Amino acid sequence: METPNALDIHPDNAVVWHDDRLFLLDQRVLPQETRFVACHSAAETAKAISDMVVRGAPAIGITAAYGVVLAARAWISSNAAADWRVGIGADIEVLAASRPTAVNLFWALERMRRLISVLEAADPVPALLSEARKIHEEDAAANRAMGDFGAELIQGPTDIITHCNAGALATGGYGTALGVVRSAHAAGKVRMVYADETRPWLQGSRLTAWELAQAGIPVTVQSDNVAASMMARGEIGWVVVGSDRIAANGDVCNKIGTYALAVLARHHGVGFMVAAPTSTIDMSVTSGADIPIEERDPEEVLACGGKRIGPNGVTAHNPVFDVTPAALVDCIVTERGVVRQPDAEKMRALMAGV
Ligand code: MRU
Repeated sequence: METPNALDIHPDNAVVWHDDRLFLLDQRVLPQETRFVACHSAAETAKAISDMVVRGAPAIGITAAYGVVLAARAWISSNAAADWRVGIGADIEVLAASRPTAVNLFWALERMRRLISVLEAADPVPALLSEARKIHEEDAAANRAMGDFGAELIQGPTDIITHCNAGALATGGYGTALGVVRSAHAAGKVRMVYADETRPWLQGSRLTAWELAQAGIPVTVQSDNVAASMMARGEIGWVVVGSDRIAANGDVCNKIGTYALAVLARHHGVGFMVAAPTSTIDMSVTSGADIPIEERDPEEVLACGGKRIGPNGVTAHNPVFDVTPAALVDCIVTERGVVRQPDAEKMRALMAGV
């Protein structure tokens, strides 16, 4: 574990290329511990993604793109340098196998693969690094644009519920759902953000709460069971969440528990907003039913804070994402604009740039 002096512990520094290495702010231990993990190879990068050192759909994609740079560098400085283009295919497969649901991972790897197929330079590293940096910077810029679009939809001041962490930590900077919250807060439209704690990894109570507190945005943590009663009291104006993959018909896959929030929001007349860049939209899957849902180790549910709480001999099921049908989504906010009441035709038009 290393934390070079040049690296600030800051939500915008979740993924940093520094000193020819990849540094990841360790999201497994934030905010109680603040440290970076250095990755020197594609395999280490893939393991960091699987182990949740870095998480959040866009951040995973950015990290994997830098992982390809690390792989290229290893090949170029090996005895088999001439075969780098063939060899790197296996490294890309290792990165692709790190997590199954967030499509940004496959989107970023495909972008790197496309570049590799046309690269003519003997040393591919500078071009691949520049592409990874571009993916990173474009994501941060997309989040700023989404922030503005999303904030415009919010009549404030109001209270907002968010789920999981869709902030700077989960992206190239600024955040998707939390980007909307940041922009809305800057416009004086946010009274309070209620961060669902998000069992079992507690992305809400650990990461969202830390990130918003750092930004001076009022945040209150609540257990995952509280949203219904908050909505019933009429205190919530919007639910704002991110996404790991949006299907061609507008179905939204996101952190487990998002679907329940969408049902509750519709029942109580609360707005349900999804903020996600177009790199999260997967036009190759017709509906949410075709999105692979990651199942993680039952121990993540049977333990809390590293301490086992479930009885021995009992198992748990641990699907970590769910699908919210498009019919329950009021709007999908992207860097290209807002899709209200999403359906297949509107998603096609968005992606075709109409
Ligand atoms: O398991 P995680 O922490 O990677 O899940 C992350 C989420 O579900 C986020 O809401 C999603 O990736 C959107 S992040 C901008």
